[in-house]
Amino acid sequence: MPIRRLFLPLAVVAALLSACATPAPHDAARAAPTTTAAAQSAAAAYDFDMDVFHPVVAKHGMVVSEQALASQAGLETLKAGGNAVDAAVAVGFALAVVLPNAGNLGGGGFMMVHSAQDGRDIALDFRETAPGRASRDMYLDASGQVADGRSLFTHLAVGVPGSVAGLTHAQQRWGTLPLSRVMAPAIRLAERGYPVSQTLAETLAKTAKTMGQWPATRAIFWRDGAPLKAGDPLVQKDLARSLRLIASQGARAFYQGPIGQKIVAEMARHGGLISAQDLARYRVVERTPIVGEYRGFRVVTMPPPSSGGIHLVQILNMMEGWPVRDWGAGSAQTIHHMAEAMKLAYADRSEYLGDTDFVKVPVAGLTSKAYARALAATIDATHARPSSDIHPGKPQPYESDQTTHFSVVDAAGNAVAVTYTLNTNFGSGIVADGTGILLNNEMDDFSAKPGVANVYGLIGGEANAIQPDKRPLSSMTPTLVMKDGQPWLVTGSPGGARIITTVLETVVDAIDFQMNPAEAAATPRFHHQWWPDQLRVEKGFSPDTLRLLRGYGQHIAVMPTMGRTQTVQVRDGLLYGASDPRNPDGAALGY
Ligand code: DON
Repeated sequence: MPIRRLFLPLAVVAALLSACATPAPHDAARAAPTTTAAAQSAAAAYDFDMDVFHPVVAKHGMVVSEQALASQAGLETLKAGGNAVDAAVAVGFALAVVLPNAGNLGGGGFMMVHSAQDGRDIALDFRETAPGRASRDMYLDASGQVADGRSLFTHLAVGVPGSVAGLTHAQQRWGTLPLSRVMAPAIRLAERGYPVSQTLAETLAKTAKTMGQWPATRAIFWRDGAPLKAGDPLVQKDLARSLRLIASQGARAFYQGPIGQKIVAEMARHGGLISAQDLARYRVVERTPIVGEYRGFRVVTMPPPSSGGIHLVQILNMMEGWPVRDWGAGSAQTIHHMAEAMKLAYADRSEYLGDTDFVKVPVAGLTSKAYARALAATIDATHARPSSDIHPGKPQPYESDQTTHFSVVDAAGNAVAVTYTLNTNFGSGIVADGTGILLNNEMDDFSAKPGVANVYGLIGGEANAIQPDKRPLSSMTPTLVMKDGQPWLVTGSPGGARIITTVLETVVDAIDFQMNPAEAAATPRFHHQWWPDQLRVEKGFSPDTLRLLRGYGQHIAVMPTMGRTQTVQVRDGLLYGASDPRNPDGAALGY
């Protein structure tokens, strides 16, 4: 079924087109009323006596990740004299060992870097690419339907991994310590092992069916015919060997050396597509971030092939005209308006977003204040617009969660926000035999067929169709919020389609509601992605708030938690870190 465009009023279309035609990045200069006052008062957020939840406070450096052992690896690197990039690279490699369902060498992601040295912000794209032999209809069966599971749990699901190239590139470009030094904690953790946490054990149990198909995977993550249990030691000798090869030879070991050869052999044995040429051709890309202005703050975030930054800025732009601070955090009025804005943004996502190296994306138009004002003007303060008026598609209801984010800030003011992933938990579940490396299933982020939803219920169109070497559209949104040119908030989250709204709420909680990062992380979240027509909420909203929202026509669904933010806030020379309480294994560690 072809994607049908949301029927926009003419004024909106005109605003979009005119903004698209203007090469200026966006009309931030004409942004709403300013804001320095708002910025200043928001900066006075943390009040020990008032706040229920408290961030970790430190002066010299802060590392926040979803696994305390990885945060420790980052902290150790900072204390050894490394900068925030050294520490982030240490965390990235360590998470591949201690958070195997999301941390990875066989996946990809994005890194936002603020370099204190030259004041520049760079968006590093190490997203997976489609193999050279990938083709548009590779996930359709003979009758033209999307074949069940093919884009998720087979060797065809695997995109050419970018993480090793991304982490080593960052290290060479901005790091100060030798690669072998920052990789040492990861190697040690793989070599010596660590006890499986309750969280990891539960995740292994949930994915037993897909993971259990592959002997090389079972050899690592199973014992006595069943997935490892809490407390069992997880020792990863093959992974330690792969890490050691990378530490001594750099990314070549992966893309042109012994690790790559094993990945290619794994593919060849099982009908996968990744070739030696695909690996050798893989490149990270330094991109110009998406930049938005919100109430005097500068939001520096991820450009395509992630949709995250564009829609974060688009929704913030719609919100700028609303007095949300007066409406209050968690009020029906605030939630309703934000949900309506989310719907409009996700509708645009399905139509316009894809890899800008392959398709034209109207970035300036989508992030322009004028377009946002026109969109916001269509929002009714007390009536939800039914999604069926906007698009008739039907998503798949499947749910899965795994990706991870980490944030690091050092004393010099360098800031790093990284979101990377295998896509769903443990990716394809396939370990390339002999490497200890789990391979992603990121190919599912392409639209297998226009109008058919992916694993996150996201509908994509032509712009996100499969092409060789193209990068699948992502929602990952590592974000830096700057105040007076310095990092003020460093954040990001996993959560598939829910990443964008989780990051949005974290930014709004900080700027509009003056919450410290621990308060923001502990605040119940809500999410609308236009289709399904459902305002998904976490538990914790009051019954009368939900009643009001239902009265506006919102279809409320109370569902499992969304996102797991890992945030650092910088204020008055101090660093405030908070690891989302939705994951008990994470830690903010500073010194
Ligand atoms: O790139 C994306 O948007 C997805 N592959 C991210 C997957 C994810 O966040 C899973 N979840 N928690």
